[in-house]
Amino acid sequence: MSPIKNVAIIGGSGNVGRPILEELVAAGFKVTALTRATSTSTFPESVTVKKVDFSSPESLKEAFAGQDAVVSAIATVAVDSQEPIIDAAIAAGVKRYIPSEFGVNTRLTPGTTIGKILAGKVAVVDYLKTKESPNFSWTGVSTGMFFDWGLKHITGIDFDKKTVRVVDSGNEKFQASNLHFVGKAVASILKHPEQTANKYLSVASFNVSVNEIIKTIEQLTGTTYAVDKVSSADLEKLGADKLAKGDYSAFGPLVTAWNYADGANKGLTPETSANELLGLKEEDLKETVKAWLVKEGKL
Ligand SMILES: NC(=O)c1ccc[n+]([C@@H]2O[C@H](COP(=O)([O-])OP(=O)(O)OC[C@H]3O[C@@H](n4cnc5c(N)ncnc54)[C@H](OP(=O)(O)O)[C@@H]3O)[C@@H](O)[C@H]2O)c1
Repeated sequence: MSPIKNVAIIGGSGNVGRPILEELVAAGFKVTALTRATSTSTFPESVTVKKVDFSSPESLKEAFAGQDAVVSAIATVAVDSQEPIIDAAIAAGVKRYIPSEFGVNTRLTPGTTIGKILAGKVAVVDYLKTKESPNFSWTGVSTGMFFDWGLKHITGIDFDKKTVRVVDSGNEKFQASNLHFVGKAVASILKHPEQTANKYLSVASFNVSVNEIIKTIEQLTGTTYAVDKVSSADLEKLGADKLAKGDYSAFGPLVTAWNYADGANKGLTPETSANELLGLKEEDLKETVKAWLVKEGKL
């Protein structure tokens, strides 16, 4: 496969899309941001920006012309809309598509309660598999929790009340990635097209437990936090009840139990981690938490 040079990104203004876009630029790719015609998103001057009508195959095909790869960091609410985007990318000669995954390893979810919410993402990867050819391949990326973006949610911390939330024992280690680390993973995938073709890869800045994070916060701030204990069984029941009523806020309790429950087993192992394949180094927990506390105005 010839090297990938031109990369189009969808959702490049978003929570994870922006750091991915920045890392693609830093890695030397020629980046084009595709943004909705109605969008008010702004982009750095170093990228080409194209307004696209995502409901029009012609508009999409035109936008994808000359692109070697498409990275989709499209919003969760729009992941289901990717099949026509994939079709247009293939029609335009795009060689690699990275779908909007970037979280839970959705390959593990069919048949589970959380899998009912993630079915759209699963269907997109299944669809990509049917499109594999000598000219077209895909790579899926599971990142676990967005760590630096989601620390408040991960710990349930209330700085004023000095409380944190711990699920079960709090000792379970889970997969977590900082936003720019996700960007570096995407850039490395596109720098290694042969090694990453038609693979679903899992990466992580580190495996970490909620108790380790709380201990780090306490050490850095010199403050002790009172622990609110919740059981993963209660969270799973809450999520299932919400989902039964069609309430998709079920994802919050379900993903919390999915990751942090005792025995959840969502940490990566040398066998399941693609960090080495992609040349990604483990990041520093204390430095990450410190930078977050500074940003939050707590240090
Ligand atoms: N692992 C985690 O902890 C975690 C956390 C959050 C999200 N995620 C995942 O990461 C991926 C990206 O999520 P995100 O939070 O980064 O996305 P986001 O910021 O909510 O949205 C990304 C971009 O999608 C575009 N977009 C296209 N159609 C849209 C629509 N119908 N409504 C709103 N925006 C639309 C917008 O770009 P334009 O305005 O430029 O068109 C928007 O800026 C998703 O797969 C999501 O599930 C993972």
